[in-house]
Amino acid sequence: MKLNTIAALVSAASYVSAQQIAQDPGVQGPPLEIVHLYYNEFPTGVAVSSSNRIFSCYPAGLDANNTQYQVAELTGNSTETPYPNARINSPPGGSLNYSTYPVSSANYQNYFIGVQSVAIDPLERLWILDTGRALTPNGTLAPAVNGGPKLVAVDLATNTINRTILLPPTVAYPLSYINDVRIDLRPNVTASGQGVAYITDSSQMGTNGLIIVDLGTNEAWRHLDNSPTVRATRQHFKEVWGESVYFLPGPGLPYTYDPTGADGIAFLDGGDTIVWSPTGSRYLYSIANKYLLDNSLNSEITAQTNIRYLGEKGTSDGLMQDTNQYVYAGNFEQNAINIYNNRNNTVSTYVRDPRIGWTDSMWISNGYLYFVENQLWRSPSYFPGTDRRIKPYVLYRVPTADGGQRVAPMNITS
Ligand SMILES: *[C@@H]1O[C@H](CO)[C@@H](O)[C@H](O)[C@H]1NC(C)=O
Ligand SMILES: *[C@@H]1O[C@H](CO)[C@@H](O)[C@H](O)[C@H]1NC(C)=O
Ligand SMILES: *[C@@H]1O[C@H](CO)[C@@H](O)[C@H](O)[C@H]1NC(C)=O
Ligand SMILES: *[C@@H]1O[C@H](CO)[C@@H](O)[C@H](O)[C@H]1NC(C)=O
Ligand SMILES: *[C@@H]1O[C@H](CO)[C@@H](O)[C@H](O)[C@H]1NC(C)=O
Ligand SMILES: *[C@@H]1O[C@H](CO)[C@@H](O)[C@H](O)[C@H]1NC(C)=O
Ligand SMILES: *[C@@H]1O[C@H](CO)[C@@H](O)[C@H](O)[C@H]1NC(C)=O
Repeated sequence: MKLNTIAALVSAASYVSAQQIAQDPGVQGPPLEIVHLYYNEFPTGVAVSSSNRIFSCYPAGLDANNTQYQVAELTGNSTETPYPNARINSPPGGSLNYSTYPVSSANYQNYFIGVQSVAIDPLERLWILDTGRALTPNGTLAPAVNGGPKLVAVDLATNTINRTILLPPTVAYPLSYINDVRIDLRPNVTASGQGVAYITDSSQMGTNGLIIVDLGTNEAWRHLDNSPTVRATRQHFKEVWGESVYFLPGPGLPYTYDPTGADGIAFLDGGDTIVWSPTGSRYLYSIANKYLLDNSLNSEITAQTNIRYLGEKGTSDGLMQDTNQYVYAGNFEQNAINIYNNRNNTVSTYVRDPRIGWTDSMWISNGYLYFVENQLWRSPSYFPGTDRRIKPYVLYRVPTADGGQRVAPMNITS
């Protein structure tokens, strides 16, 4: 080593103390408030009513031990009550049908099989999205059977079922995984005047697309099937908490890239625009609702040619819209939740915290953004195939940016 190099090192050591070296601050934005600790089942979704009642779901399709209930009301900081009742959460003989070969999911119309998402509409009905699929104990996701995939609305005032809409196998395929739902009750969106539901199909078997349901007639149809915008990006690789995220499709099968398609879905422009994002990607897309509502002969071609690419926003699962034209999206790799700002088409970090990783679903109520941290990538379906999740899973909340409220289209906002 040359003498002048040694001199430079000595001077570096004496003039720069550790505190002066720039580093990632790790936290940013409002502090996280813990709302609920999940010690029992593995949660995905959350919805909070206008009177701050909180509901979560626990899909049997993601954790074979989610056998006690699929939907619960969070009745205390760590207590949960099956919702709307214990009976509908207890399919006789369980969520799997072992009398078929290969094993299939149960076909019950009047029981929950595997609930992935919950959402509340402006009439205070809880919409429960049942994938109709359950995981076998060895990690095989059993196909859905007619009767399983459905939307169930529960009136929160009476805790009774308002309606059940079955999604037939021509719309929710046996290998579909209907993932998330947003409700638009504006009377002008369909001829029936009863509103519409938009649902993502995130299937890890590639049957991705968006499903539209007329809540008056119960008719349902698909759009954007096979569009790259609803599918995972080829060889998509992400890391969460410094850990590699590869996917294990089933017992005895080799690892692959995260194949999860269109997952998060949200509104912009008061419901006139729909945004979505595949979880096996970093991309955000949108389309005007009229292209999805149209189910005429040319509607699929027209829809595919009217998709907008809104850019990258990090890797995320659920999305949530607010009245500021902000779309909240997780950013798993930066321990963050980001905002896509539709006013200037930019993405910015809203909150960062080392406790943030896989942000599953989000919900806005009374000026707070609620979000579920569930360590999904540490479950046995991901590399290295062992269960590395550590309970409790956590429901957090932070104030929304700039006082944003939930967009709940009904010609009013609430
Ligand atoms: C279910 O729980 C049992 C007992 O705690 C555990 O051995 C098993 O690995 C769990 N299965 C899954 C799929 O998480
Ligand atoms: C829940 O936690 C909050 C904050 O720690 C506390 O004020 C409240 O008393 C707790 N509620 C119950 C039912 O334990
Ligand atoms: C199980 O599968 C058999 C054969 O298809 C069918 O008859 C039965 O109704 C199914 N039961 C449930 C609960 O899915
Ligand atoms: C379902 O909810 C709507 C809106 O609140 C209400 O008008 C209707 O009567 C309800 N139907 C049933 C069967 O409860
Ligand atoms: C429904 O009415 C709203 C105004 O309340 C308008 O912005 C929207 O474009 C209309 N949607 C359709 C599909 O006509
Ligand atoms: C996984 O379990 C199911 C249901 O018991 C069984 O049908 C299937 O053969 C098993 N698969 C493997 C690879 O062990
Ligand atoms: C976009 O607008 C937001 C406020 O609405 C602002 O905070 C942000 O800096 C803007 N981004 C850019 C790149 O101009």
